Amino acid sequence: MGVLLEVKDLVTHFHTQEGTVYAVNGVSYTLNEGETLGVVGESGSGKSVHVLSMLGLIPRPPGRIENGEVIFNGRDLLKLSEKELRKVRGAEIGMIFQDPMTSLNPVLTIGRQLTEALKLHLGMNTTQARARATELLDIVGIPNAGRRLDDYPHQFSGGMRQRVMIAIGLSCNPRLLIADEPTTALDVTIQAQIVELVKQLKEHLGMAMIWITHDLGVVAGLADTVQVMYAGRIVERGPVESVFKDPRSAYTLGLIKSLPRPDMPRGTRLEQIPGAPPDMLNKPVGDPFAPRNPYATPRCCEETPPLRPVPDGHPDHYVAAWYDLREARALEARTAEEAA
Ligand SMILES: Nc1ncnc2c1ncn2[C@@H]1O[C@H](COP(=O)(O)OP(=O)(O)O)[C@@H](O)[C@H]1O
Ligand SMILES: [Mg+2]
Repeated sequence: MGVLLEVKDLVTHFHTQEGTVYAVNGVSYTLNEGETLGVVGESGSGKSVHVLSMLGLIPRPPGRIENGEVIFNGRDLLKLSEKELRKVRGAEIGMIFQDPMTSLNPVLTIGRQLTEALKLHLGMNTTQARARATELLDIVGIPNAGRRLDDYPHQFSGGMRQRVMIAIGLSCNPRLLIADEPTTALDVTIQAQIVELVKQLKEHLGMAMIWITHDLGVVAGLADTVQVMYAGRIVERGPVESVFKDPRSAYTLGLIKSLPRPDMPRGTRLEQIPGAPPDMLNKPVGDPFAPRNPYATPRCCEETPPLRPVPDGHPDHYVAAWYDLREARALEARTAEEAA
């Protein structure tokens, strides 16, 4: 499979009155054609800013892309003009954002919002665009699609609005679909339906996808690769099964432990990661997770660990850590056994 997207050492900061916000601090990865990447991490870890930077959508000022390349389809997106980027965004990269109420225009019908992009990017006439729009609404599971084209966003439920957003994201057959917390505002049942829908669409349409969420559980059944972000960096990355079964970052382990599992007795209290997320107004030093990490070593407080292949693991599994999580946990288990 060919490489579709290559992000190289992306750094984005915001220069505000309060000081510099170190939002993204050197993010590098590649995404293959047809691959689904789940990007996870607590709120404020730079997930949104990293994709908004790629798409030319961060407010500048106060935002500034300090470094990096984003090679998509052979071009560096960071070097394109606003006009060229707008074309890429509508036609080659589809986007779905968190809140359909703010992303959909409340005074335009759903049909109008869908057909506009089709006319602009694919050069369709009104009849063709309406036919395609109906087809798209049908694909995303909106009943009576043809009759709903003339409805306004407020006439749809939250889940149905999110389906409309997905239809718009898919409208130009993008090679890459970026979804930023698309189910966060929805209740759990609707959330599961949307995840299922996107899974089916992906298999059907074969595009690559970046799915951003603070909820590791959401990506488990959806992504091929998972990438965990903390303080504007990738702390772990690998095939989903490998990262879930064999996490090597204490942060990822914390996220996994905070997930509810089906085999848990009712009322089990979930473990929370102790401490608070980092203040991004401080220039990151060392391993930013060190203050919250029971396995941290002195080196973690001083030097930033690079993302490297894990020892004795899946060849595509990477971690940024100076400590060896498996060794540390094994030692912990032995000590507990001896004490018992
Ligand atoms: N327009 C902005 N001005 C200043 N700081 C911002 C702006 N947008 C985002 N940030 C900051 O950048 C950091 C990363 O934010 P974000 O990427 O939105 O986090 P996530 O999506 O992982 O929750 C946060 O500290 C956030 O407050
Ligand atoms: Mg976000």
